Amino acid sequence: MATTRACAAARLGNILLLVIAALLAGSSSAQLSTGFYSSSCPGVYDAVKSVMQSAIATEQRMGASILRLFFHDCFVQGCDASLLLDDTASFQGEKMATPNNGSVRGFEVIDAVKSAVEKVCPGVVSCADILAIAARDSVVIVSSLYRFSLLKIHHDVKVGRRDSTAASFSGANNNIPPPTSGLSNLTSLFAAQGLSQKDMVALSGAHTIGQARCTSFRAHVYNDTNIDGAFARTRQSACPRTSGSGDNNLAPLDLQTPTVFENNHYKNLACKKGLLHSDQELFNGGSTDAQVQSYVSSQSAFFADFVTGMIKMGDITPLTGSSGEIRKNCRRTN
Ligand code: HEM
Ligand SMILES: *[C@@H]1O[C@H](CO)[C@@H](O)[C@H](O)[C@H]1NC(C)=O
Ligand SMILES: *[C@@H]1O[C@H](CO)[C@@H](O)[C@H](O)[C@H]1NC(C)=O
Ligand SMILES: *[C@@H]1O[C@H](CO)[C@@H](O)[C@H](O)[C@H]1NC(C)=O
Repeated sequence: MATTRACAAARLGNILLLVIAALLAGSSSAQLSTGFYSSSCPGVYDAVKSVMQSAIATEQRMGASILRLFFHDCFVQGCDASLLLDDTASFQGEKMATPNNGSVRGFEVIDAVKSAVEKVCPGVVSCADILAIAARDSVVIVSSLYRFSLLKIHHDVKVGRRDSTAASFSGANNNIPPPTSGLSNLTSLFAAQGLSQKDMVALSGAHTIGQARCTSFRAHVYNDTNIDGAFARTRQSACPRTSGSGDNNLAPLDLQTPTVFENNHYKNLACKKGLLHSDQELFNGGSTDAQVQSYVSSQSAFFADFVTGMIKMGDITPLTGSSGEIRKNCRRTN
C-alpha cells in the first residue's frame, strides 16, 4: 500500500514545478579549500568547464561517465587520481578491477582537460583536482538541461589534492559496491569511507543519469520480486537471460531522462523501477525508504544533500602538502 501511494505521489511530482534549491556548502576540511588555486591557477575553472561542455555536447552520456570516475577514484585510497593510472607490464592499476573493467569510461576526456589546464598553468593542478572539478561541472551542465531549470545545482569544489604514485587493484575490488549488494552491505561500504547512510542515499541520485550494462542488471530484471513487472519485461527484452550473450547491452539507469540530472531516480524507485538490485534496495521497506520519499517530493532537498555528499566524498583521505605529486600525464606517475 505504501508503495502504491509513494508511486502515485511520484507521478504527481513529475508534473509539479518544485521549489528553488538553496545549496549549502558542507563542513570544511582542514586540508582542502576552495581557494587553493586562486593565485597559482585562477584559469583552471574556465579551462575545465570549456572542455567538459564540448565533451558533453559531443556525447551527452559523458557527464555521467565522468561523475562515476570521481566516485570510483575516491573510494580507493581517497581522491588521488589512482583510477586514472594505466596498467603497464610492471604495474597493475584499477582500471581492470571488476567494478571498472568494461564499464569505466571518459579517460580521453580527462586527458583533454589536463592538456587544456597544462596550457594555462603548467605543472600546478593535480589530476585528482581535475577529476573533482570535472565531476562537479558534469552535474552542473547536465542539470541545466532540466527544462524547469529554475533549479540549479552548483557548489564550489574544494581543491588542493595531489596525485598518488600508486593504485590499488584489490582496493577497487573490495571498496566499490557491486550492484548485487543489499542495503546493509551498501551501508557498510559507504561507512568504511566515512560516509553516512544519508550521504549514500543522496549520492545514489547520480543514477538519474547514465547507462548500465545488461550484466549489471540481469539478475534483478529476471529474478527479483521487488520490481515492476512491465518494467522488468521491457528491460529483459534488451538483456538475454543467459549470461555471455548481450552482456554489454546498455539500458538507461533512469528510464525517463538519462541525460538530465534531477530527482527522477527516486521517483523510479518509488515505482519499483530501479534498474539495479542495489538501487531498489534503497526503497524496499527498509530504513532508507523515508529519505527516498523525501527526495521524490523535494528536488531541492535532494540537490542540497547531493552537494553535501559530493563535498564529503571529495574529502576522502586526500594527499596534500608534499605527499604524492602533481602528475604531468594523468595516466602515469612522473
Ligand atoms: C550505492 C552504490 C552504487 C552502486 C552499487 C553502483 C553501481 C553502478 C553500476 C553497476 C553501474 C553500471 C555499470 C555498467 O554496467 O556499465 C553504475 C553506473 C553509474 N554510477 Fe553507480 N553505483 C553506486 C553509487 C554511485 C555513486 C555514489 C555515484 C556518483 C556520485 C554513481 C554514479 C554512477 C553513474 C553516473 C553511472 C553511469 C555511468 C555511465 O553512464 O558511464 N554511482 N553504478
Ligand atoms: C576485463 O574484461 C575483459 C573483457 O571482458 C576480460 O577479457 C579480462 O579478463 C578482464 N580482466 C580482468 C582482470 O578481469
Ligand atoms: C555482504 O557482505 C558479506 C560480508 O562481507 C558477504 O559475505 C556477502 O557476500 C555480501 N553480500 C553481497 C550481496 O554483496
Ligand atoms: C535466477 O536464479 C536461479 C536460481 O537461483 C539461477 O539459477 C539463475 O541463474 C538466475 N538467473 C539470472 C538471470 O540471474
